[in-house]
Amino acid sequence: MKKILVTGGAGFIGSHLVRLLVKKYPDTLFVNLDKLTYAGNLANLTDIESLPNYEFVKGDIVDEDFIMATFDAYRFDGVIHLAAESHVDRSIASPKEFIMTNIVGTVNLLNAARLYWKDNYDGKRFYHVSTDEVYGSLGDEGKFLETTPYDPRSPYSASKASSDHLVRAYHHTYGLPVVISNCSNNYGPNQFPEKLIPLIINNIRHSKPLPVYGQGTNVRDWLYVEDHAKAIDLIYQKGTDGETYNIGGNNERQNIDIVKTLCRIIDLQLGRPVGESEKLITYVKDRAGHDLRYAIDATKVFETLGWQPEVQFNDGFEKTVAWYLSNEQWLDEVTSGNYLKYYEKMYHDR
Ligand code: NAD
Ligand code: DAU
Repeated sequence: MKKILVTGGAGFIGSHLVRLLVKKYPDTLFVNLDKLTYAGNLANLTDIESLPNYEFVKGDIVDEDFIMATFDAYRFDGVIHLAAESHVDRSIASPKEFIMTNIVGTVNLLNAARLYWKDNYDGKRFYHVSTDEVYGSLGDEGKFLETTPYDPRSPYSASKASSDHLVRAYHHTYGLPVVISNCSNNYGPNQFPEKLIPLIINNIRHSKPLPVYGQGTNVRDWLYVEDHAKAIDLIYQKGTDGETYNIGGNNERQNIDIVKTLCRIIDLQLGRPVGESEKLITYVKDRAGHDLRYAIDATKVFETLGWQPEVQFNDGFEKTVAWYLSNEQWLDEVTSGNYLKYYEKMYHDR
């Protein structure tokens, strides 16, 4: 049986990806290795946890001995690496965790793959899941291409850029078969409510202020998470070693429009007077070094592999809001305890 290691499979994107892979490839074993940080949640995976081709291993990719022992035990054929510290604001508050997990953790996985695959790279693949933030910030015009020079500007994006460079270096230096994808902002069910969309949904639910950084005019390019998972599957199966693929939704929105749209949809879904939730919008101090605009040119992955987003933004947005409103227990559990401390630290006095 083929064995594939997925790191970070209990997180937002990872859980959607693991669910897709485990169901689509019943003859491949998928091992989900995750530290279960605040962002990892096994409740995201209850529907697949008892399937015979799925295993969960709790562990830290920064622990080199543990990673080597796991490779020794399973002899993986492939790695799809998503485990990361992923939130920009947390990286601004404390960068070191990002350096450890995103850079050192990635190097530990690269070293293990290199060691266990060195005699025969045939059929092996190391897939690094990365972000469009490595390219920096755009003005009003243009889009990020795979050839756009790297210009990371937050500790998070600098750590992801560094890990991208290391993955490429292992390809060029040791011939390790790698692929990388750089994706724009994902949205959908199971996203931890530190990120804009679930945070705003949760606050509207509780009639709490809706914090919009700066003027709310920063632009992100939104993609439904299941479309990202499908792109990763396709690139893992059909991509070319050593190549990078940009993935995006071709769906740019200013933050303030996202927040107002959420207010409108939720007012309608909760039977509140339309306009009620918009009154909660509160402009707050901007994020330090806030990137103005991201936009992805996904022509390469479309022309070479045939991927394009399937979910229209309006449909994806309605589905997303409906999921959070009908999974209030999930939201309540992840927004209790440490989340309250996090929220106080990040938003008090802002
Ligand atoms: P997430 O924060 O929701 O999940 C990250 C997962 O990694 C969690 O399950 C967490 O427990 C695990 N993890 C963290 N540190 C670990 C460690 N040291 N060892 C093992 N596991 C660890 O993140 P996400 O939004 O699902 O992002 C997944 C990947 O996709 C990341 O690499 C991120 O950089 C990338 N990405 C995210 C987006 C987005 O919009 N969310 C867009 C493009 C790329
Ligand atoms: O572009 C891909 C990246 O998208 C991923 O690599 C990251 O892992 C992911 O977190 C995301 O980064 P962003 O910083 O763009 O996402 P976030 O949801 O934190 O913020 C989206 C925008 O909304 C951004 O311009 C900041 C703004 N914002 C965010 C929060 C949390 C607010 O205005 N208020 C908020 O409370």
